[in-house]
Amino acid sequence: MAQKPKLLITGASGFLGHALCAAARRHWSVAAVYRRQRPRLPGITPVQADLADPAALPELLDRLRPRAAIHAAAAAQVGACQADPMGTEKINVTVPARLAELCAAREIDLAFTSTDLVFDGRRAPYDESSPPVPFCVYSDQKGRAEAAVLAHHPRALVARLPLLFGLAPNAQSNFGVRMLAAIRHNQPIELFVDEFRTPVDTASAAQGVLAFVGKVHGPLHLGGRTRLSRYELGCRMAGALGLAPTMLRPVSMAVVALPYGRAPDCSLDSRRAYGLGYDPTPLDAALRQMVTQAA
Ligand SMILES: NC(=O)c1ccc[n+]([C@@H]2O[C@H](COP(=O)([O-])OP(=O)(O)OC[C@H]3O[C@@H](n4cnc5c(N)ncnc54)[C@H](OP(=O)(O)O)[C@@H]3O)[C@@H](O)[C@H]2O)c1
Repeated sequence: MAQKPKLLITGASGFLGHALCAAARRHWSVAAVYRRQRPRLPGITPVQADLADPAALPELLDRLRPRAAIHAAAAAQVGACQADPMGTEKINVTVPARLAELCAAREIDLAFTSTDLVFDGRRAPYDESSPPVPFCVYSDQKGRAEAAVLAHHPRALVARLPLLFGLAPNAQSNFGVRMLAAIRHNQPIELFVDEFRTPVDTASAAQGVLAFVGKVHGPLHLGGRTRLSRYELGCRMAGALGLAPTMLRPVSMAVVALPYGRAPDCSLDSRRAYGLGYDPTPLDAALRQMVTQAA
């Protein structure tokens, strides 16, 4: 049997990284790079590295010699970036830029995972021609990382992902998981009625990134087909559980004090990806799968 090509996945212990590893292992020999939380998925090879160490990336690439790399390591919490812009700059901007430079020099295909939050949410829906407009530290870091990645590696894929939901071993603090726990235990939870996204499940997002790494160059939007508020998403999740959404409290963004601005509508126009074969699981079906797996 022919050997599987090697794929380096950073952030393999994270929420998206888990889904990337699970989806990739069938067709790729996966080197799953983690920092603290060793991934326990069968069929992958965990590799420990702190990517903030400047020696780590060239050492990994020269030792493992992957055909492709997917960069999903990040400080991905908006609040953490706002609280510590300097501390998060390295993993969110310096590391992806350096990885792009190193991959380009070694002719390694690269996918950089970015976010719908590069947009400030005032001119949705956003397609690939829309210019990023930052509204907080995380938004600014990811937008600058995108530009740096493409400057060093013009053939890299910049996969802009929407709000993600799903299960993963290390995803306790994840929004969808918190919402599911609140609904299931009938605990009140406040959800915005005026913040809109095009969410997608992590498995679909991972399939999209894997399908287009090395094939699409530049930004590609991998949003879901349904635009809705967080409150509506909660109602759909309650529906997937067969429950009335009585525990959900609809609130406006205007009444919640946050240390950073909110983007009211970061809906992605993902028609380009759909035309290329990206076919995310419909929202209600994906929510049903999530609640079934969590049971
Ligand atoms: N979650 C979403 O809804 C969402 C939406 C749009 C885009 N995205 C993008 O998707 C990507 C992944 O996000 P996520 O939600 O999966 O994040 P996450 O669950 O917080 O995972 C972050 C990953 O980065 C790793 N990491 C952080 N610093 C590192 C370092 N110095 N060296 C090595 N590894 C390091 C962590 O490793 P350890 O845990 O082992 O330390 C972890 O595996 C990010 O690019 C994010 O911008 C996420």
